Amino acid sequence: MTHSAHSNASHSSLPGLGVIIMAAGLGKRMKSAVAKVLHPVAGRPMVLYVVDIASRLAEQGIAVVVGHQGADVRKVVEGVGAHVAVAEQTRQLGTGHAVLQARPMFAGQPQRKPSRYLILNGDTPLLTEATVRELLAMHDAQGAAVTLLTAVLDDASGYGRVLRRRRDEWVQGAADNAVQTIVEDKDASEDERRVREINVGTYVVDGDFLFPTLDKLDPRNAQGEYYLTDIVQMAVQQGRTVSALRLRTIDEGLGINSRVQLAEAERVIRQRIRERWLEAGVTMRDPGSTWIDAEVMIGRDTVLYPHVTLEGRTVIGEETVVHSGSRITDCTIGNKVEILDHCILRESQVEEEAHLGPFAHLRPGVTVRRKAKVGNFVEMKKTELGEGSKANHLSYLGDAQIGAGVNIGAGTITCNYDGWKKFQTVVGDQVFIGSDVQLIAPVTVGSGAIIAAGTTVTQDVPADALVLSRVPQVTREGWAARRRALQRGETAAPDPPAQRPKSAKAMKGSTGSVKKKQPAIQRLKRR
Ligand code: UD1
Ligand code: MG
Repeated sequence: MTHSAHSNASHSSLPGLGVIIMAAGLGKRMKSAVAKVLHPVAGRPMVLYVVDIASRLAEQGIAVVVGHQGADVRKVVEGVGAHVAVAEQTRQLGTGHAVLQARPMFAGQPQRKPSRYLILNGDTPLLTEATVRELLAMHDAQGAAVTLLTAVLDDASGYGRVLRRRRDEWVQGAADNAVQTIVEDKDASEDERRVREINVGTYVVDGDFLFPTLDKLDPRNAQGEYYLTDIVQMAVQQGRTVSALRLRTIDEGLGINSRVQLAEAERVIRQRIRERWLEAGVTMRDPGSTWIDAEVMIGRDTVLYPHVTLEGRTVIGEETVVHSGSRITDCTIGNKVEILDHCILRESQVEEEAHLGPFAHLRPGVTVRRKAKVGNFVEMKKTELGEGSKANHLSYLGDAQIGAGVNIGAGTITCNYDGWKKFQTVVGDQVFIGSDVQLIAPVTVGSGAIIAAGTTVTQDVPADALVLSRVPQVTREGWAARRRALQRGETAAPDPPAQRPKSAKAMKGSTGSVKKKQPAIQRLKRR
């Protein structure tokens, strides 16, 4: 399988770089019980996008500052790897205060002290690694105390505005209009609010400058918070260089504060993901309706029909076809698999050249082996279907181990639950199971056995045996015609004796002849 499109940048980490990610904020404007930075974008918690960039750049460690719903955020970021340290901000007193909480994480041996820090907001998932590298290169080239990322937006409301030296040139961005300060939306004058250049929330700060400057922050502003952004004017006051990189694609600067912005980020990231896989050799009949989560992998020459959804950590092989309306979550699908319309697959494995659907439902823990078939309205759970085996129609197979070359007849059900516990069904290789069979678990069917249609299997079946459990058939010649005649009010002809199958001696008597004095209609009803 080739997954060349996975964006693992080949560049190395940057010497002397420490990264601080701010992820403690409440996210009030999201109106949510879930911490803002954990809201997923294309199926992945928002904060992991910047953690991912940090992982590829940091040489001197990554500190993520958590606070609001800190335990949940911690779990998500620590899941990324041991190189991520978590700092707690118990009260959310502002972004400057948040960064200060990371200080102990970098207070080890002096030779391991970062020469500069990359500081990222946890709510900017559209930021790219290439841009951050460019920002770092600018910082190093200009020997700046602070370098920040900016964007010029049509609607800058809500963001911190970047004020440059000559007020009449704020937006033109001439080389000499050095950044003077950042003023937050809530603190801005009417004039300042008209500025459309905004602070993205991505900074590089000199290692010796950062923490001593944060110690001097003053929270006397509209929000009563310690603003990280104040270090810009403090650097300027100290005669230090402040540089700024202006984004060319403004999408990257989107900070997620509301559900509207979350939806916008989702749209942009989904489009990026689709383009990546199209370029890697995946066909999409209708890219716009194809949903692919950030961590999904797809092999080349695979074809996705309209309205396919691939979620979570799904991996799809090469030359596989997924038809419309199917949703695949956390599954591994092999090469040359065909998945027909409207299948729902979850936490399962499908090996190469298998066929699924239409309308197949794989619940967690299913393995469909090579060339096996799972057809219409078949539901499976914690079940293995062996190589080349078929369950083509209307079945429930749960807690079952099914061998190779097995035929599961239409309507076969594993009765795996007795109201308290779940039990296993084991079916050997080359077993033939006819239609409408119930397998009452726990039960084992030996290899090569034949289970006749309509059988209820309650006991283990030896290899190569025939099992048949059926109510013998009763046939009454002319019965239906006589019933219709009775309903029309005609007198019925005498009742001929019932015909029974020869093998059904045991049943004799139970459907025996009827007393002659009963009215004809009652006699019919009793049979
Ligand atoms: C911030 C910037 C603003 C910029 C915008 C870009 C400041 C003061 N303002 O504003 O200039 O235009 O981002 O999106 O920095 N956080 C903490 N602890 C806190 C407060 C916030 O960890 O006490 C974290 C949040 O979880 C979030 C990030 O810092 O990830 C930014 O906080 P947020 O409240 O979204 O700041 P904005 O108002 O968007
Ligand atoms: Mg924000």
